[in-house]
Amino acid sequence: MSFGKMPIANGFLTSDQIQNEYFFELAPAFCSYCGMFQLIEQPEQQKMFHENYAFFSSTSNYMQAHFKQFSEMVIKCVLADRQEPFVVELGSNDGIMLRNFKDAGIRHLGIEPSINVANVARLAGIKTLSEFFNVELADRIVGENGQADTILCANVMCHIPDLNSIAKGIKRLLKPDGMLMFEDPYLGDMIAKTSYDQIYDEHVFIFSATSVSWAFAQHGLELIDVLPQITHGGSMRYVLAPKNAQPVSSNVDELMQKEQKQGLHKTETYDQFRHKCETSRTSLIELLDSLKQKGQRVVGYGATSKSTTVNNYCDIGPEHIEFISDTTPIKQGKLTPGAHIPVKPYEAFKHNPPEYVLLYAWNHAVEILEKEKNFTVGGGKWITFVPRVEVFT
Ligand code: TYD
Repeated sequence: MSFGKMPIANGFLTSDQIQNEYFFELAPAFCSYCGMFQLIEQPEQQKMFHENYAFFSSTSNYMQAHFKQFSEMVIKCVLADRQEPFVVELGSNDGIMLRNFKDAGIRHLGIEPSINVANVARLAGIKTLSEFFNVELADRIVGENGQADTILCANVMCHIPDLNSIAKGIKRLLKPDGMLMFEDPYLGDMIAKTSYDQIYDEHVFIFSATSVSWAFAQHGLELIDVLPQITHGGSMRYVLAPKNAQPVSSNVDELMQKEQKQGLHKTETYDQFRHKCETSRTSLIELLDSLKQKGQRVVGYGATSKSTTVNNYCDIGPEHIEFISDTTPIKQGKLTPGAHIPVKPYEAFKHNPPEYVLLYAWNHAVEILEKEKNFTVGGGKWITFVPRVEVFT
């Protein structure tokens, strides 16, 4: 299916950059042979991850707590009785996860090609290399530090188009009794919730247990456990180890059976998904058009990467959304990719609340609705589009 021409999801820009804005065709496809759901075309990595990368992981308190728990589990369950353990994280961003290992005095190394976010981590004393991970880098790390006891990766594995090179590098970097743990948005949730906004340039893959198991098995890595997560609107944590090195949890088989029941292996499931996306698009744009006609003010909440797909696919622009409120300084004062809706600091929303808020950051709904109780109590209305377009108060 195609979502049409799309800009870089995190390519927030100034008005003088509009002329040179880059677009590509956002077209995911499903492979009925290996079960992979992936983009056909992805922009070059350097166009997405660079010194002006706009996504800072630590903007959400909830995510900070999530990665603290993740790290504590790794320290307790994987590293506890190991001598001088060594942890590597791929795509360590501003250090949201590794800071917990640093604080516990554990040897660690983050790999983060986006220099600006990596610098935040370095300033906090977290060892970070600004490079793209591949087999050569894996060998260099092993030469300098030895193999890793665990390799972690959160919302990053699905970003890397050359999964085979990554898997090869991981196999080299991981100790024979080591574990790879990564989490990413889960295909089963995306299909169940019609959360098509998970599909954007950075998310080259939307994984399932079936596709992960298949892809990594080619490189001698076995899926030994799967743990559902509520982050990013429905994610899965995958645990892998060198083949036959660790017992395989019954969770793996159970989830694969569930995926079969959900029809994730059938092309018809994706035809239905496409149909639901089209229905969602029509409902959302009709709602926003009618609010515009009634002269109601609508503001967006959270200039997420996901919002780029929603805005461009549904043809939403500044005529519908006055501005999007976002707490990330690098996004503020800029225009959203493709749709060119102004992004303003949170205070713009707080000091002049609109009648309606389009909750682009629906994955942070619990945290945001708690924070914005006064807006809701004061009669403010929320618009969501996942799992369906609706207004709630
Ligand atoms: P997020 O949903 O984490 O991810 P993605 O970019 O992967 O789609 O992005 C959340 C965005 O929302 C981020 O730019 C910060 C912003 N935000 C706020 O402005 N206020 C908040 O209270 C929260 C939780 C996030």
